[in-house]
Amino acid sequence: MSTLQVKPIGYALGAEVTGVDLRRPLEPALKDAINDAWLRHLVLVFPGQDLSTNEQIAFSRCFGDLDKHEFQPRYTHPDHREILLVTNKLIDGKPSDTRNTGRNWHTDLTFTSRPAKGALLLCREKPPVGGDTMFANMYLAYETLSQRMRAFIDDMEAIHDASLVKGLEQRDPEKVADMKRRNPPVAHKVVQTHPETGRRSLLVGQRIRGIIGLSDAESAALLGFLNEHAESPEFIYRHRWTVNDLVMWDNRCTQHIALPDFDQRQPRLMLRCSLQGEVTGRVLEPAAARTDDREALMQMLAAVA
Ligand code: OGA
Ligand code: MN
Repeated sequence: MSTLQVKPIGYALGAEVTGVDLRRPLEPALKDAINDAWLRHLVLVFPGQDLSTNEQIAFSRCFGDLDKHEFQPRYTHPDHREILLVTNKLIDGKPSDTRNTGRNWHTDLTFTSRPAKGALLLCREKPPVGGDTMFANMYLAYETLSQRMRAFIDDMEAIHDASLVKGLEQRDPEKVADMKRRNPPVAHKVVQTHPETGRRSLLVGQRIRGIIGLSDAESAALLGFLNEHAESPEFIYRHRWTVNDLVMWDNRCTQHIALPDFDQRQPRLMLRCSLQGEVTGRVLEPAAARTDDREALMQMLAAVA
């Protein structure tokens, strides 16, 4: 316990945690210290953690119930539903459908009514260069908006849509259809309040179809501004992976992106546990999920808003 060290590694967010062996059960005091560091730094990097899948699952469970990944059940570890495989390696002789996971700025599972509380991603194989992940602090993104803008967006709801996940066209169409069927569009507040810290943060990203109550043009302009603001370099920590890094992010106040800046023939294998979050969104009418006609969709949404 006394050897736990937490060293900031980014200006906006991110800290490296050393002096702890995550293969061993955590004492309550150590668990609390890690949780405090997590709430303060939003992204924790634990280098040199050679964890088995069971050990990763056990450590992750210290911070909440684990998602069984029902939103996309076809991408999990064959023996552990709690582990999502994020990889470009061949699976059953075919290119993995998760090889392009996270290629646009996003917060995990906002296309469900229950976005993840957090996630713990373990790097098992990586290309010699590139394949970094960037994280952005969404408290800062919110707090640096003008008071007028904060008041303007305070009650707004945005429509998050699984069909806007980048790179779906490269995946197995049948699995994509299944994922879309399971995840009709869902509305989330643009401004979220963190259940543990009480701080407010911005929830945007590139998987949003529009803002309820605004015209298409207004919506596009406002989202364009908010996304550009949220992606400002001063809010970002960029993680350059080393094998056996375990990175744990608070998904309630951050967004992230997986960069495709590497040779795709080189294997990259990441194992993810997702912590189950609270229900913060409302699923929209099933009819809204079926239409591709934006005007009809907006009218329907206006009717339910
Ligand atoms: C994720 C994700 C990032 C990466 O697992 O949620 O976005 O770099 N992955 O693989
Ligand atoms: Mn992600």
